[in-house]
Amino acid sequence: MLPAVPALDRSSPAPGSEPGIEGLRADCRRVQLELRGALGVEGRASLLRGVLDRAVFVAVARAMGLLDPSAQTWAELVEVFAGLESMGGAAWTGPSASELAQLRIGDATSRQLASLGEGRPLCPDTLGQLFEGGLVRRARRDAGVFFTPASLADFVVQETLGRSQRDPGSLRVLDPACGGGAFLLAAHRAVRRATGKEGALANFFGVDKNGEALAVARRALWLEHAKAQGRLEPAPAQLFTNLRQGDSVVDDPQVDPWAFDWSTGRRVGASAGASTWPARFDLILGNPPFVRHEQLGPFKAHWRERFSTYEGGADLFVYFIERGLELLAPGGRLGFVVSNKWLRGGYAARLRERLARDCTVELLVDHGHAPVFAGADAFPCVLCVRKGPPAPTHAVQVIQGGRSAERFAVPQRSLAAAPWSLEPPAVRALVAALRERAVPLADYAGIKPHYGVKTGCNAALLVDGPTRDRLCREDPRSAEILVKYLRGQDVGRWSSRWQGRWMIFTRRGVDIDAYPAIKAHLEGFRARLEPRPRGHAGPWTGRKAGGYAWYELQDAVDYHAAFEAPKIVYQVIQFHPRYALDRDGLYTNDKAFFLPSSDPWLLACLNSPAMWWHNWRCLVHMKDEALNPAGDKMIHAPIPQPTKAQREQVARAVEAVVAARRANDEANAALLDGLRREWGVERPGKKLGQLAELDGDSFVREVERRRAKGSPRLSDAARVELRAVFDAEAPELRERRASIAGLERRIAATVHAAWALNPDELARMRATAPPRTPTNW
Ligand SMILES: C[S@@+](CC[C@H](N)C(=O)[O-])C[C@H]1O[C@@H](n2cnc3c(N)ncnc32)[C@H](O)[C@@H]1O
Repeated sequence: MLPAVPALDRSSPAPGSEPGIEGLRADCRRVQLELRGALGVEGRASLLRGVLDRAVFVAVARAMGLLDPSAQTWAELVEVFAGLESMGGAAWTGPSASELAQLRIGDATSRQLASLGEGRPLCPDTLGQLFEGGLVRRARRDAGVFFTPASLADFVVQETLGRSQRDPGSLRVLDPACGGGAFLLAAHRAVRRATGKEGALANFFGVDKNGEALAVARRALWLEHAKAQGRLEPAPAQLFTNLRQGDSVVDDPQVDPWAFDWSTGRRVGASAGASTWPARFDLILGNPPFVRHEQLGPFKAHWRERFSTYEGGADLFVYFIERGLELLAPGGRLGFVVSNKWLRGGYAARLRERLARDCTVELLVDHGHAPVFAGADAFPCVLCVRKGPPAPTHAVQVIQGGRSAERFAVPQRSLAAAPWSLEPPAVRALVAALRERAVPLADYAGIKPHYGVKTGCNAALLVDGPTRDRLCREDPRSAEILVKYLRGQDVGRWSSRWQGRWMIFTRRGVDIDAYPAIKAHLEGFRARLEPRPRGHAGPWTGRKAGGYAWYELQDAVDYHAAFEAPKIVYQVIQFHPRYALDRDGLYTNDKAFFLPSSDPWLLACLNSPAMWWHNWRCLVHMKDEALNPAGDKMIHAPIPQPTKAQREQVARAVEAVVAARRANDEANAALLDGLRREWGVERPGKKLGQLAELDGDSFVREVERRRAKGSPRLSDAARVELRAVFDAEAPELRERRASIAGLERRIAATVHAAWALNPDELARMRATAPPRTPTNW
C-alpha cells in the first residue's frame, strides 16, 4: 500500500505544532520571563539558553519515563543538571553546571523549571523543534535553516529505507546537514519498527556546520537510544564519533574554517583519530539548507572547481545533492527535502541532467506552495533516488499537492536537462496536443525573436526627457540619433505606453564628431564607456571587450531597422502574459524581446490563455516564478493555423482591443498627470494606475494617501472637486475595460477553436491553470 503523504496542505495544523510543542513553547516563554530578572544582563542569552536546554531535556526525559526529578530548589535542580552533564559530556554546550550553580534563582522559578512541560506528550524530536524556534528568524533564513516536521522526516525515511531490500539494521545512514537530528531520529525509529530491535548507533552519521544544532541532535539521539534501553545511561560514544561538526560542501579551510574531509570524517587538518568513518553510505537523508546564490558569493569559485552541477545562480542545496550522490554506495538511496525551484529553474539544468542520467528517480513530491516550514517562504519538494541508471521503462512516481495529493507516474526517459514537466498523464497529453495541432512559431512566421538593445552603460546612453531636450537645444542634429525606447516593465498586454525615455543610438560606424552635444555628454562617462582592451588583466571600470568604439553601443544591433517597423514586443522576465503590438517604431532596452511581425493572429495566440498554460509548463522558471521566454525556446512556441474566417475575425478584434487598451492607457496617464500637477500626487502607485477598478470613495481616499508628505489635508470642497474628476473619467474607462474583456473572450475563443480544443480539454486547462492566467476566456 502507498504510504500517506504527510498532511501539509493549508488546512492541516501549522507545521511544528505537533502535540505538546506549542504548550511547551508557552511554558518556556513564561519561565523565561521569570528567569530574565534573575540572570542580570551579562551573558544573559547564553545562560538563559543553557538553563532552558537542560530543563527541556529533563521535561522530554520525564515524558518518556526516563527521569523523574523532584527538585524543589535551584541547588537541587543544578544537581540534576550536573548529573546530566557528566553523562552527556559534549552533548551539552553553553554554561557548565558549576557556572549555573552561581546563579540565584528562587524556589518558585526552580520548581517551574523542574516541572516544565509536565503532562505534555513530548518526544526526542521536541528538542530540534524547540531549538529552531529559539533561533532568530533572520539568522534562520540566512542559514537556510528550516527544521523538518517529524511527519515529513518519517515519510522520507519510509520512501527510501522502506524500499530497500536489505536488512534495515545493516544500513549506514547519513544526514550531511543533520541540524537537530530529525532524519536520524526518523531512521532510527523506522529501523526499530522494521526489525523490532534498536538500530545500532554505529550505523548513524551526521554532519552539521552549527555546533549547537549538532549538540541538540546528540541529545535527541541519546534520548531515543535510552528509550530502547528503558533507562538513561551515559551518552554512547558513537554520538560523538559519528556526529561531526563541519561544512559538508567545502573541503578547503581557506574557504571555510569548518572545511570537512569526507575521507576521514573530520575537519580538514584534524588528526584522523581511532574511529572509522565510512567511505560510502547506503542511505543519505536530509533537509539541506536552502540559500539563494546571492548570499553565496565567497564560495562560488570553490564550488565551480568541485561540483559538476555548478551554476552561478544555483541554490546551496544543489551541491548537497551532488555531494550526497557522490557519497552513496551503488544502489544506495538518497531522500532529500529541497526547494522545488530546481525542477524548472534555469540554474539546475546540469543537476536535472545528472539525476535523469545517473539515478533512478523513485519519487518526487512537489508540495507547491504548501506551508511545510513555519515562517519560511520556501516551496518544498521531496526527492528520492536510487544510485544507478534507470531501467529503460522506469517510471517516476510523482505526488503533487498536499493532503489532496494527486499521484501519477512519469516515464523517466522523458526527463533530461530541460525543465521537468511533472504533470499527470492527462495534462501531458494536452501539452502534446497543443504542439501537435500547431506549428512552431519559427515555421509559422519564418522569423525569430530579436533582443532589445544592450548598451553596456545605461547611465550614459539612456537619458530622460529633459536631458534629451538639452542635447537637442545644444545641437539640433542630436535628434537624429536619439530614439524613444521601452523598458521591459513598460511592455503591456496588447499595447505599451512609452514612458518618456530616450536612448542615444550610436550604432557601429556612427560619425560621433557630427554630434558634438552628444559627444560632450558621453565624454562625461568615458571611463565607464571604454571597452576593455583585449588581453587586459585586472580590474576595468569600463565596458566588456568588443569591436566597438567608446561612444558606440555595445551591441552591434544589425537588425536596427526592424525596430522602426511594426512589431510584437514582450518582456524578458515574464510575470504576466504580455505581448504588445508596437506601430510607433519604439526601441527597447535589453529587458524586452521583439518579433519582427505585426500579424494579429500571432499576437492573439501569444496572448491566449492556452499559450500561457503551455509556456508555464515548457519555459524555464526564473526567480519568483517569472517565465523566461528566451529566443531559442520561443521559436518552438506552438501557433495553431487559423481558417480564413478565424484570421479575419481575430484581426478585427485585435485591432479593437489594441485601440481600446491604448485609449485607456492614455486616459489613465492624463488623469495621473493631472493628479500630479494639481493634487500633489507624485507617486500614484498601482491602485490609481488602474482607475477603472476603483469606486469614487476609494479614489478620493487613495489620492489623499498618495499626496506628498506634509501636504495639507483636503478640505470638504476639495474632496467634492476630486470626486467630480473621478465621476467624469471613470464611466468611459469602465466601459472600455468591459469592452476589452469582451474582445479578449472572443479572441481567446477563436484561438482555442483553431487549436481544436474540446470542452473536456478546456475544462482540464481551467482546472490546471497556472498563476496569472488571463481571466477573460
Ligand atoms: C534546513 S536545516 C535542517 C536540519 C535537519 N535536517 C532538520 O530538518 O531538522 C539545515 C541544516 O544545515 C546546516 N548547514 C548549513 N550549511 C551547512 C554546510 N555548509 N554544511 C553542513 N551543514 C550546514 C544548518 O546548520 C542546519 O542545521
